[in-house]
Amino acid sequence: MGLLELKNIAVFASGRGSNFLAVLRQIERGKIDGRVVCVISDHVRPPVFEIAGKHGIPTHWVNRKQFSNAADYAEFMLNLLENYRADLVLLAGYLKLIPTPVVRRYRYAMINIHPALLPNFGGKGFYGEKVHRAVIESGVKITGVTVHFVDEHYDRGAVIAQEKVAVEPEDTPETLAKRVLKVEHRLLPKVVGAFCDDQIKVLENGKVVWN
Ligand code: GRF
Repeated sequence: MGLLELKNIAVFASGRGSNFLAVLRQIERGKIDGRVVCVISDHVRPPVFEIAGKHGIPTHWVNRKQFSNAADYAEFMLNLLENYRADLVLLAGYLKLIPTPVVRRYRYAMINIHPALLPNFGGKGFYGEKVHRAVIESGVKITGVTVHFVDEHYDRGAVIAQEKVAVEPEDTPETLAKRVLKVEHRLLPKVVGAFCDDQIKVLENGKVVWN
């Protein structure tokens, strides 16, 4: 596949960036027909920016607080993504809600990863350790990973892929998070690769199929 056919991927991340790195590794191994054009964060200097810097990827701090109103904030984000000619927007550990005009512009081209089997254990406030703690406290035997298209709500939007992870009786949020993360690092690059190869289609009823 020629360079011109690579999909431009803009990544949003707030913290550690291990999922971003997992995608980057597969790109660098030639397994994904895409390139990461920028990393955007609501935090000033998150660890994920260090990873981006090491790989020569530009970073941008974009926070609602920098703007006097929501429309300017959304317009700035849209312009940024348009300037990078983003084909895919990837939320990899990004905690803020993406402004509605941006979600609309990138409908079915914006993907999020969540460390549980949505629609369970998702929504506002369900992030990081809180997700795994809630899973353990509920007593369910199975959790997992969900990769889905982003809509205007937290952790909703059409599911693209899910993979199960067993919850063990002796699990703590930390041990469970570790096992789930391993699956995340496999599933996310797989979905991104399929998206870049135009293998993911959305039916009229909103359901997702893989070619
Ligand atoms: C992951 O568990 C992801 O599912 C969730 O946030 C976490 C980000 O981790 N949305 P990392 O920054 O990719 O290491």
